[in-house]
Amino acid sequence: MSDRETTDRNALPGTDAGREHARLCEKIRGHDRAYYQEDAPLVSDAEYDALMQRLLDLEKKHPELATPDSPSQTVGAVPAGGFAKVRHRVAMLSLANAFDEADVAEFVARIRRFLNLGDGETVELVAEPKIDGLSVSLRYENGRFVQGATRGDGSEGEDITANLRTIADIPATLPASLPASLPGGVPDIVEIRGEAYMARSDFLALNERQEAAGGKPFANPRNAAAGSLRQLDPAITAARPLRFFAYSWGELSANVAGTHWEFLERLREWGFQVNPLAELCRDLAGIMALYEKVGARRAALDYDIDGVVYKVNRLDWQARLGFVSRAPRWAIAHKFPAEQAQTVLNAIDIQVGRTGALTPVARLQPVTVGGVVVSNATLHNADEIERKDVRIGDTVIVQRAGDVIPQIVAVVQDGDHAARPKYTFPTHCPVCGSEAVRSDDEVVTRCTGGLICPAQAVERLKHFVSRNAFDIEGLGAQHIVAFWQDGLVRSPGDIFRLRHREAEIAGREGWGEQSATNLIAAIAVRRTVPLERLIYALGIRQVGQATARLLARTYGTFDAWRNAMEAAQDRDGDAWAELIGIDGIGPAGA
Ligand code: IVH
Repeated sequence: MSDRETTDRNALPGTDAGREHARLCEKIRGHDRAYYQEDAPLVSDAEYDALMQRLLDLEKKHPELATPDSPSQTVGAVPAGGFAKVRHRVAMLSLANAFDEADVAEFVARIRRFLNLGDGETVELVAEPKIDGLSVSLRYENGRFVQGATRGDGSEGEDITANLRTIADIPATLPASLPASLPGGVPDIVEIRGEAYMARSDFLALNERQEAAGGKPFANPRNAAAGSLRQLDPAITAARPLRFFAYSWGELSANVAGTHWEFLERLREWGFQVNPLAELCRDLAGIMALYEKVGARRAALDYDIDGVVYKVNRLDWQARLGFVSRAPRWAIAHKFPAEQAQTVLNAIDIQVGRTGALTPVARLQPVTVGGVVVSNATLHNADEIERKDVRIGDTVIVQRAGDVIPQIVAVVQDGDHAARPKYTFPTHCPVCGSEAVRSDDEVVTRCTGGLICPAQAVERLKHFVSRNAFDIEGLGAQHIVAFWQDGLVRSPGDIFRLRHREAEIAGREGWGEQSATNLIAAIAVRRTVPLERLIYALGIRQVGQATARLLARTYGTFDAWRNAMEAAQDRDGDAWAELIGIDGIGPAGA
């Protein structure tokens, strides 16, 4: 992609540091896209933080690498299409992370050094839970809520005012009874920042409704909140139970507090929800005690938190401390370790994906991990099972990192482990019986059945109708499975022929005349889609959304693309050579 190229050019190509830098930037940008634009994170927060830390360390050693386009200098991802853009008058920044007490001690010591404080002076800090939601900015003019935006890349977000208006925790007006100059008074311009989130209980209920309607369940409350805020139709957002905790500000036309603690008091007076676990602490021991206390209550809370944020209380000190690149010097996020629990591995099932990849899935004795019941965990591939020596019947440690599929961390070495048989990875596809092979350069074992394999065929159809492909409303993954089983849809073309079978659909269980008519109408709307969606919908291995967009832009029409591929194939038997020639597609993508 073009941003990858820019970094390559800036990153002293040819040096080891330059290459490592380019590699890290590319990875982090990929994760940013997955997290911010696709609401589908690929790694845990801890893994992401580790990558970012490596990037920061490298840039510390080689400051010339910290160019403005480095992910260390930018926050999040560029806004996704569909909403108007909003330029933040005061940038929405991120926070540096602390992982242990030593990091926190260093944070406090650095503040003392920076402010040149004597031994007698205390640095009061406000400690607040770090809510695992989406940060948004709310603009009030003359006491009225006029605009709400996502963080986006920190400088520019998306205008989601209509959606935010549906959240009961966000006041439509602020109290007008007091002049701005008095405590509690509201300045003409007020921007309040905080976290929009979904409660765990609401998330579980929403997923039940979602699955009953044939839709795909959300992976976790954060993704559900993100998906709900990104709805172009505010009526859908209104039906999703979102909440909001306020904790910060952007533009303010007058000062309203001398300390952060006082500011939180203003927020309460103005009708916002402030997290009840926030505390004013006097020193390192105080914030560490709060960290332990909040950590102990974490699993029982009805919302996800992933750490505790410490903020210098005095606002004049905050102003002196200022910012460094993407984060303030006066605040830090002290992260919690991922939540873990022990349970029994009942079985290992093999799932066959769209491209034939065999993925082992652990079926677990249901266990609560951080407030969410977990009964499945990913085992990734054959190597992973081998490395961890996971055997059916073992007691295992399960980890839920807040935002990704639960993982098995390790086997608990009880006396019986050695007596259990080692797991042998299948040599044939469990669905179609075709041979399953693993090529030398891959960790993945694949079914060789292609479209003969019912699992691959169904997965391709699910992909074809999915959100970023044809996005056919009312035709969820569960419907595809049912239609496939009953022979209604066996190929993408069949979807467009369903209009001849409307009466048959109306008579199916769970359907009626109205829903069948709606489905046929939704399919008709999608007879034409942008070329990039069509290319993506084909589900070609390694051709994700970004590559599909690039191909669409390069060739313009489906025929031009197909002709170019066929011509290359005829010329030298290698259509990929043609693809590699396109700016932005590297050998891995081809
Ligand atoms: S303060 C200038 N306080 O964490 C600093 N952030 O990793 C403004 N977050 O972008 C952020 N809970 O989305 C702050 N109590 C809290 C928070 C919090 C969650 C999020 C926020 C921020 C991210 C930084």
